[in-house]
Amino acid sequence: MTLHLDPRRIAMLQEMGLRLLPPMGAAPEVAIAEPEAIEVAAVEVAARVSTAPVSFAPAAVPVAAPRTLGDRPTGIESLGWDDLAAAVAGCRACGLCESRRNTVFGVGPARADWMVIGEAPGENEDQQGEPFVGQAGKLLDNMLRAAGLNRRSNVYIANVLKCRPPGNRNPEPQEVAQCEPFLRRQVALVQPRIILAMGRFAVQTLLQSQEPVGRLRGRVHQYQGVPVVVTYHPAYLLRNLQDKAKAWADLCLAMDVMEGADA
Ligand code: URA
Repeated sequence: MTLHLDPRRIAMLQEMGLRLLPPMGAAPEVAIAEPEAIEVAAVEVAARVSTAPVSFAPAAVPVAAPRTLGDRPTGIESLGWDDLAAAVAGCRACGLCESRRNTVFGVGPARADWMVIGEAPGENEDQQGEPFVGQAGKLLDNMLRAAGLNRRSNVYIANVLKCRPPGNRNPEPQEVAQCEPFLRRQVALVQPRIILAMGRFAVQTLLQSQEPVGRLRGRVHQYQGVPVVVTYHPAYLLRNLQDKAKAWADLCLAMDVMEGADA
C-alpha cells in the first residue's frame, strides 16, 4: 500500500505508531509497515505519553441535585459550565448512577476549535473522573498530538455517557437518551469548528444513524451545525491495528476541513 505524504502527515503516522518503510516507488510515496511493526511502535509511543492531571476534576454534587432515580435537571440547554458540571455530578437520570464512582464530565478548554466525542467512561475514567485516561486514551493523545492538539490547551474531549456502564457493557438507548442533553450543551458551550466522533455509539448518537462507522467515515456530517468527521474508536484501533491508517486518514480529513474553514 502506498500513500502520498507531506512532512506533517509523516509525523502524524509516526505519532500514531505507524512505522514508515523505505519507499518502493517515487520519492514522495511511502509504505505502511507490517502490523507487528506497528504494534511495537505503538507500544513505544504509548510508553512516552504522560498521564498528567486533569483540567476538569469531578465536580462537587450540587445541593439541589435530584435524589430520585429517573430525575434529570431541567433547563440543561441554558446552563453555564459550572451549573452543567454540577448537574452531571448530581445526575440520577438512569441506573448508571448507582454503580459509578465518579461522573466523567469532560476535559479541555471551555472554548476550543476541536472537540472529540467518545462513548462512555471505562474503569480508569470512572476512577479518575477524566475521559480517555486508559490505554485507549494514550493512543488518542498520540493521535491528537500528531495533529498539534492537546487536551490541556486546544481540544475538548467528552463522552456520550457521563457514567461508566458496569463491566464496560454497551450503553443502552435509554441511557444515551437521558445523557445526550448534557453533551449537546457541552457542544453549544465549546463551540467547536470540528467534531471528531469516535466509535459506533458516539457516531450513531450524533448522527442519529444506525449505519456502521466504516460506512459513515470519509465524508463530513453535521451535528448542531458543526462539521463532524467519523472515525474508529481508539480501543477498537488497539485491537485492529490495520485500521490505524484509516483513522489517520480521518484525522487528515478533519484537519482539511479546519484548513478549508480557515481559507
Ligand atoms: N472509551 C471511551 O469512549 N471514553 C473514555 O473516556 C474511555 C474509553
